[in-house]
Amino acid sequence: MKAKGLKDLLVRKFDKKLYEIIDEDLRLLAEIKDYTIRSGGKRIRPVLHYCMCRILGYKGEKYADVGAIAELIHAASLLHDDVVDEAQTRRGVPSVGSRFGNKTAILAGDYLLACGIYHLNRLNSPELMDIFTQVIKDLSVSELVQMEWERNPKIDSDVYDRVVYGKTASLFGAVCQAAGILAEVPKKNLKKLHEFGIRLGSLFQKQDDAIDYFQAGDQTGKVPLKDFKNGLYTYPVLRLLEKADKNDKKLTHSLFAKEERNEHDEVVILSLLNRYNIRKMLSEEFRSDVEELLRFLKGFPETEEGALVRDQFRKLTEV
Ligand code: FPP
Ligand code: MG
Repeated sequence: MKAKGLKDLLVRKFDKKLYEIIDEDLRLLAEIKDYTIRSGGKRIRPVLHYCMCRILGYKGEKYADVGAIAELIHAASLLHDDVVDEAQTRRGVPSVGSRFGNKTAILAGDYLLACGIYHLNRLNSPELMDIFTQVIKDLSVSELVQMEWERNPKIDSDVYDRVVYGKTASLFGAVCQAAGILAEVPKKNLKKLHEFGIRLGSLFQKQDDAIDYFQAGDQTGKVPLKDFKNGLYTYPVLRLLEKADKNDKKLTHSLFAKEERNEHDEVVILSLLNRYNIRKMLSEEFRSDVEELLRFLKGFPETEEGALVRDQFRKLTEV
């Protein structure tokens, strides 16, 4: 099967599982469930989990449960995240908060998370329970750290890495490690799988940060310069600060110090990024990160699922 065919099939399978797991008897929850699943993303985490399971030789069906649990944790965190970020849209359509109200978004997020944990408990695996509850802790901590450092010029790459670990990489690490658990690989390989997922998730987040400055718009369904508007120092800006001369550094910080950033500020930050060739620099960096990830996959037999993962990796080099 072609990579795209396999991916579409998996998305349908995971969506069906999500419908089963989110059992609701409130009309409002049913509406939000439909809304979230239908407007719902690329299912990257469950698809990655499935592929890793097959790459590692696991032939069973539990991947569908684990993948759906990962997606539920992710979906719940996004409902909350859009409230925190005051985001009006998600994936090009109104966010749950702006459509149903922020209070509803928070409570519905709690409900999705509860459905995920309930289902996780039913898998009867203390190891999987440990892994995914740790992810939920990481998500919450990183969002608090990010908030604490908003518009703070003292932010450095250690703080940034901590945020990225918690908000994105931790769940990627978990789905790869969980694949190893289902495939019953030796303990030392579980650690390697976790590290692989963490590296992949960090790259995914850095690329997402780059898209915010260089590619957002109709095609991606993302609001351009959203992180900049929110006063968040993200990856392109941290790289800019490393390269910029004293004056440009000062100018960059002065933009983030403002209560709000206007259209002129947007022109200024984009021209600064351009002056120091940050887009090209990131593109090269991401390419080399992908090379490293591919090297890890070379250690496993050729499979259709391996081809799908490699195909997805190529997208991570696009900035
Ligand atoms: C998206 O980042 C943010 C997350 C994936 C994590 C959000 C986590 C919380 C709000 C903590 C609560 C957690 C749970 C499990 C309920 P982003 O804002 O950079 O990306 P975006 O552009 O997609 O919004
Ligand atoms: Mg957000």
